[in-house]
Amino acid sequence: MALTATKFFLDEDRQLTAEDEEEFFRSLKVRNTNSKQTRLGRLDALNDAAIALIQIKKWGAFNALDIGISSGVTTIEFNERLKAAGLFPSMTATDLSFTAFLVDAAPECRVLVDASGDILQFDLLGQAIRPWRRRLDFLNGMLFVKAGLHKLYADKAKRMRADCGDTARQIRLLNPRLAAARDITILEDDILKPNASFHGKFQFVRAANILNREYFDRETITGALLNLGSYLCGPGAMLLVGRTNDSRGHDASFYELDERGARFNEINRIGRGSELDDLIRSLTIQARQQ
Ligand SMILES: C[S@@+](CC[C@H](N)C(=O)[O-])C[C@H]1O[C@@H](n2cnc3c(N)ncnc32)[C@H](O)[C@@H]1O
Repeated sequence: MALTATKFFLDEDRQLTAEDEEEFFRSLKVRNTNSKQTRLGRLDALNDAAIALIQIKKWGAFNALDIGISSGVTTIEFNERLKAAGLFPSMTATDLSFTAFLVDAAPECRVLVDASGDILQFDLLGQAIRPWRRRLDFLNGMLFVKAGLHKLYADKAKRMRADCGDTARQIRLLNPRLAAARDITILEDDILKPNASFHGKFQFVRAANILNREYFDRETITGALLNLGSYLCGPGAMLLVGRTNDSRGHDASFYELDERGARFNEINRIGRGSELDDLIRSLTIQARQQ
């Protein structure tokens, strides 16, 4: 069973294993994605391929941007592997939001609510209960318990969060190891909106398991890719776009900006390559200075 958010974030005596972290984030479903989870070692194959390409580039210190990081465990792993390979990354990690609130909806029930107002977890007398339905719920009766919890506490918790009173404590939905990492900059950022402070800053940008046609339409993806292109620092800078199927593996492509810094050339692919390959190669990137 997953830990409660109270135990996970607020209990200073907690001894969390990497498996506890994984189980906890897997239990949180957020809007727009399947879950807040991103599995330990999930992107290892992509990390190895990225390191091989960066080594060829012989970059000394370089700036890397990892977008849509979720709980951030794959960012920590990427950063550690880069450093273990003798490279010198300066890593920035972003997601739309890391903000959530622990709301004391009643003495017996604390509710974890995210910035969009969605319920992520009920903590009923210290037991973590997922607010979303699982197949098992139909067999073991949890369906009725969850319906009851929603009825009794969900709207109340959302109102209390919106009021931001003393009963709502703000937390950051981040892997504690990432939150403690001093060499990684963590920022909330919407990839659909240009961020001027990122323009021309990065040698390497990774968009793993975020840009795909299930989440976004073509126009939206095009805007996001143009933003990412403008964050690259010029010719030779790299973009990784990929999608992971946890049973089948990765379909991902590495691109580099051409000598004018305007077009993406694919320089390596894993599996079938990015499903956005045609689109990515058709783009013209506008160089933007900070
Ligand atoms: C499936 S997770 C990917 C986590 C990790 N990159 C990996 O590959 O395991 C997708 C993440 O994209 C984030 N996301 C969705 N829309 C976004 C947006 N417009 N801007 C930034 N992040 C966004 C979600 O919050 C979620 O954490």
